[in-house]
Amino acid sequence: MADEPPLTPSGLTERSYELLVQAVVDYAIYMLDPQGRIMTWNVGAERIKGYTAKEVIGQHLELFFPEEDRRQGKAQRLIATALREGRAQDEGWRVRKDGSRFWALTVLDAIHDEAGCLVGLAKITRDMTERHEAQQHLDEVRAQLFQAQKMEALGQLTGGMAHDFNNLLTVIIGSSDLARRSNNLERIQLLLENIHEAGIRGRELTQNLLTFARRRTPQDWALDLASTLQASSALFAQALPKSISLDLEIPPALHQARVDANQLEMALLNLVFNARDAMEQQGGRILLRAENRHLAGEWEELHGDFVLISVSDDGPGIAPELQTRIFEPFFTTKQFGKGTGLGLSQVYGFARNAGGSIRVESEPGKGTRMTLYLPAAV
Ligand SMILES: Nc1ncnc2c1ncn2[C@@H]1O[C@H](COP(=O)(O)OP(=O)(O)OP(=O)(O)O)[C@@H](O)[C@H]1O
Ligand SMILES: [Mg+2]
Repeated sequence: MADEPPLTPSGLTERSYELLVQAVVDYAIYMLDPQGRIMTWNVGAERIKGYTAKEVIGQHLELFFPEEDRRQGKAQRLIATALREGRAQDEGWRVRKDGSRFWALTVLDAIHDEAGCLVGLAKITRDMTERHEAQQHLDEVRAQLFQAQKMEALGQLTGGMAHDFNNLLTVIIGSSDLARRSNNLERIQLLLENIHEAGIRGRELTQNLLTFARRRTPQDWALDLASTLQASSALFAQALPKSISLDLEIPPALHQARVDANQLEMALLNLVFNARDAMEQQGGRILLRAENRHLAGEWEELHGDFVLISVSDDGPGIAPELQTRIFEPFFTTKQFGKGTGLGLSQVYGFARNAGGSIRVESEPGKGTRMTLYLPAAV
């Protein structure tokens, strides 16, 4: 009896438990001593990292880290966190024996014996390269889709502006014609001024459009909201029918926000076009407003400094029973061919991903206000 191997809590003998860990091929499972030196090695570790047990035992965990991480002491930092907090997790590049890289998901746990003494660290690593690559591919496709949607929006914007351009050209042609036939210097001077002004106005129209169409690298920190709102509202105002006006109200010291400019512009465009569609029949006023707000859980458990950007219209409003449905993908009340029902679901996704939210306030017959809550960069 005395020779019976000890049992683990699950009833497995320690030896069979060890064999189990040894045989796992999809995960690298091994132990480190408290200094980070490798003490055990399993088949999964050999398969993922390419080293045999003989080659790595006694070496420091750092061996698997790329040069740039080594310089920054990443392995040491992970070990320190695991020792301090009991566990450390990480996702990032690691290097195999042959020098190739793989994307690893790792967990490091501090292990104590029954007496509470630290025996070492258990390290579990999974090779996530395929998933990481799939994710990157997905991100690229998303970016392409986004650009395509932007181009489509641009089509809508330019459609509205062709008319304005025509007016400007009429002014230019008419005034130059009159100037050619006049001998009156003062009158010629006046006509030239008209032409100049029309030219400047035309330049503004195209500049706003070009800014909108530009492909920018995504960024999600400290966006200068005031200037983005100014440029966008100037552009949208040009694209609205004459019966609809657009006003912008921003306070002098508006916070910056942690959002991507491209995505914010598209979200605003969706909201403004919804307001336009709502007032198609009777016309009206759209108000684009921004303000700083400190939140302590008043709305959807959001805490901290936020910027609220609202788009209000005085259209027919949204029935209460529809207010929760409008954010669903493909929900639309518009005629076939007029709306896809994707606008608000994208705005919702944008606000959520940014760490904020969107709120709808609407009273049938009175109008609608859509408010974006975006985390401020203060
Ligand atoms: N400002 C608003 N006033 C009244 N109804 C609105 C307003 N904004 C959205 N809605 C309602 O919400 C629905 C969904 O809006 P959403 O922007 O997601 O899709 P859509 O405008 O119908 O189509 P898309 O934006 O894809 O062209 C609209 O069809 C409309 O019924
Ligand atoms: Mg829409």
